[in-house]
Amino acid sequence: MPLIVVVGGWFGDEGKGKVVSYLGLADKPSICIRTGSINAGHTVNYNGRTWKLRILPSCFVNKTTRLMIAPGALLKIDVLFKEIEETGSRGGRVWVDANAGVIEDRHVESERSNEYLMKVIGSTGQGVGAAMVDRVLRVLKTAKEFPELRDLITDVSKEVNEELDRGGEVIVEGTQGGTFLSLYHGTYPFVTSRDTTAAGVISEVGVSPRLVSDIILVFKAYVTRVGGAGELPGELSMEEVVARGGWAERGGTVTGRPRRAAPFNMDLARRAVMLNRPTQIAITKFDALFPDARGKRRWADLPVEARRWLENVSEALRVPITLIGTGGEDSMDMIDMRREVMGP
Ligand code: IMP
Ligand code: MG
Repeated sequence: MPLIVVVGGWFGDEGKGKVVSYLGLADKPSICIRTGSINAGHTVNYNGRTWKLRILPSCFVNKTTRLMIAPGALLKIDVLFKEIEETGSRGGRVWVDANAGVIEDRHVESERSNEYLMKVIGSTGQGVGAAMVDRVLRVLKTAKEFPELRDLITDVSKEVNEELDRGGEVIVEGTQGGTFLSLYHGTYPFVTSRDTTAAGVISEVGVSPRLVSDIILVFKAYVTRVGGAGELPGELSMEEVVARGGWAERGGTVTGRPRRAAPFNMDLARRAVMLNRPTQIAITKFDALFPDARGKRRWADLPVEARRWLENVSEALRVPITLIGTGGEDSMDMIDMRREVMGP
C-alpha cells in the first residue's frame, strides 16, 4: 500500500510537477492529491503540450488516476474549473474534499491592497494567506457550501485510507514552494502561509504519518527563488545567471517575476533532508548542469562526470537519488533509478 509524498527541497519551483507527472505515467497511481493552494504553479510538459497547474494534481496525465483536492487545501472555483477544462478532466475524475477552503475575490483584494505583504514579503497576491486567516478565524467558506461544487465533493481522508487498505498507490503532491518557504521551518517572515514540509503536507490530507511509505524530496540541480525578498545563499548576479544559460528562467509560473539563482547548496540540502527525512531524492533540470545529459532516459547514457556528481550528492546526503529529470521537454525525460542500479 504505497503512500508517496513529494515535496520540494528549496524555495519552490524545484520541478515537483515534472516529478509527479512522471510518477503518474510510470506508476499509474489510483489517486493523486494536491495540497496547498493556487499560489503554486506546477508545470507539466507532455506529448508536446504544456500545462501550468495551480490547483489540479500533476498526475492528470495518467487517465486512470483519480485527482483529489485535500481538506487542508484552498481552492478558487474559477481556477479549478478552468483547469478541469484545460486538462480534459470532466466527469468523475476530479474530487474535492468537503472541507477544502474556498478563496473568494475579497481575499485576493485584501492581499493586493496589503503593502507589507505585496512589497516587503513579495506575496503572489492570490488571496491564499488572507483565506488562511479567515480559516483560522472560522469564517472561511468550505467546498461543501458551494452548489457549483456539489458533484465533486468527497471525503478525501476516507478515500485515501480505503485505497491504501486495498493495496493501491496514492501520491500526495506538496506545493507552495519547497521546504524553505514553510511558515514554520523556512526563512520567516519571507515565507508562504502554511507548512510546506512532508509533515505539513500529510496533515492536510488526513492520513496518518504511519502510512507514509516514501517521501521524495525534489531538488532542482541549482537553487532559485522568485522575487527580491528573502535570503538566497550563494546568490549569483544576474549576469552570472545569464552566463550559465539554462539557469535563466523566464519568471515565476504564477507571477512572472524574475527568479534569482544560486548553485546547488549542500548545507541547505542537508537541512531540507533533516526536516523531511526523505527515503528518495529527485534531481530535476539536470541538463542545466550537464548539457550532455539532456533527454537521456538511462543511467548508462549519462556522461561519467554527471554520474559522479549524482553519486557524490547521494553520498553526502545519505539518501538514494532515484529520479533524475534530464530536460524540460517531456514528463518522460527522466532516469528512473528505482528500475536501475547506480554504478559505472
Ligand atoms: P504568498 O504565499 O503568495 O503570500 O507568497 C509568499 C512568498 O512565497 C513569495 O516569495 C512567493 O513568491 C513565494 N511562493 C508562494 N508560493 C510559491 C510557489 O508555489 N512557488 C514558488 N514560490 C512561491
Ligand atoms: Mg512553481
